[in-house]
Amino acid sequence: MELIQSVRQMQARADEIRRAGKRLGFVPTMGYFHEGHLALMRKARELADVVVVSVFVNPIQFGPQEDYGRYPRDLERDRRLAEAEGVDILFVPTVEEMYPEGYQTYVEVTELSKPLCGARRPGHFRGVATVVLKLFNIVKPHLAVFGEKDYQQLKLIERMVRDLNLDLEIVPHPTVREPDGLAMSSRNVYLKPEERESALSLYRALELARRRVAEGVKEVAILRDEIEKFIQAHPYTRIDYIEFRDPETLEEKQQVDGPTLLALAVFVGQARLIDNTILRP
Ligand code: PAF
Repeated sequence: MELIQSVRQMQARADEIRRAGKRLGFVPTMGYFHEGHLALMRKARELADVVVVSVFVNPIQFGPQEDYGRYPRDLERDRRLAEAEGVDILFVPTVEEMYPEGYQTYVEVTELSKPLCGARRPGHFRGVATVVLKLFNIVKPHLAVFGEKDYQQLKLIERMVRDLNLDLEIVPHPTVREPDGLAMSSRNVYLKPEERESALSLYRALELARRRVAEGVKEVAILRDEIEKFIQAHPYTRIDYIEFRDPETLEEKQQVDGPTLLALAVFVGQARLIDNTILRP
């Protein structure tokens, strides 16, 4: 596996790969790999001839009070894991090269950035869209794989690709879970042992909602109330949001009268966890 740190070098390798007629698959990450990342790499491996994975903890998608400084990092471990998955190139750019002095260009996906995590994390999705577009311009992939756990991010990237006529395919990948249902996330490392059980309340709340919808409950107000009580019954939890939205436009819904995104964000101790499902009546 090659390790590339310079933008120029990555662009030159991407040109070579494309000239050789190879299909280039890309998985952008912030590193500290878990099974969820590895599943995205496997998907890219399945669909492409050459797989590039980037590791870049993107400072501009973190708010001033957020965890940029303490976000978990372990490049040596990431290298070993990516190599074992048959990744061809690990691209690890520096902050200085990605955002040199004088940097001032940003991408905004205006409407899809507003609700859910966008409302609680101002500037977050501007940072995500900007870095992802930069990475696409550097890695020049034919396809890029994104996890459905970050559902809003996925929708926003799909929209950006359509709106800006980017010539690549976005491949969604289902959320990868621990055997007990907890969605895999690099931020799970923040959970203390006594908080682990409470972290499961997100997945169990999604299951509860699916069950209630299968029983015929359609009223969002009723479902929200039940989910809220359910999560609050777990120690160490603080609900950030429980939202029912149209899965494509992310507009609010009052009834589960068609496919409906149920998205949750809950603090469990210091860890802010998110999870989601599509409810179908
Ligand atoms: O999902 C992530 O890990 C990040 O938001 C991404 C897409 C790598 C951009 O920094």
